[in-house]
Amino acid sequence: MKFFVDSADVAAIAELNDLGMVDGVTTNPSIILKSGRDIMEVTKEICSIVSGPVSAEVVSLTADEMIAEGRKLAEIAPNITVKVPLTWDGLKACKVLSGEGKMVNVTLCFSVNQALVAAKAGATFISPFIGRLDDINLDGLELISDIRQVYDNYGFETQILAASIRTANHVTQCALIGADVMTAPPAVIKGLASHVLTDKGLDQFVKDWAKTGQKIL
Ligand code: E4P
Repeated sequence: MKFFVDSADVAAIAELNDLGMVDGVTTNPSIILKSGRDIMEVTKEICSIVSGPVSAEVVSLTADEMIAEGRKLAEIAPNITVKVPLTWDGLKACKVLSGEGKMVNVTLCFSVNQALVAAKAGATFISPFIGRLDDINLDGLELISDIRQVYDNYGFETQILAASIRTANHVTQCALIGADVMTAPPAVIKGLASHVLTDKGLDQFVKDWAKTGQKIL
């Protein structure tokens, strides 16, 4: 499963990238707002660090405007993935931009049918939002599983990019289901290395080592 970082925090992306944890990056207008940076500048900086797909989202609501914005965003770097919303106009933009050879990430997906029409429109990635479904007491992971089955039934090549990931368990379950990609904030990715028994075991080893009075260095 590929790891994308859901952030525009350049320092955090660089730290994870140095560890080989970054196969790509996703951003959205809320993430750009949080960064306090200009979208073109921060996206260019991210693309100078990460060689995999970097999603930059259009902000207009009509297909023609989305296409124009998508073309402009795609000029930032060859690894830009244009992110469009899962609306009818977004699908029109997806079809045109993917027809031009650009990678397209169709975002804000909350149903299997939405994932189906995005694949039909040539999406490179479909982004089902797990956490936001869980927030309204629906089952985000079940959606990932259902899309996996439907895409496999018909051989759709659109990659399932599990998004709105909030917990380490979301990551585990996405890997078990077979999501192609998961995107998560840096803190969630760093949290994947944690386990309470690792902390407890290490604490005991440190105490016992001190009692030996030995040194390695
Ligand atoms: C994905 O591309 C989105 O940017 C993101 O995963 C949304 O996550 P949130 O629901 O935690 O805001």
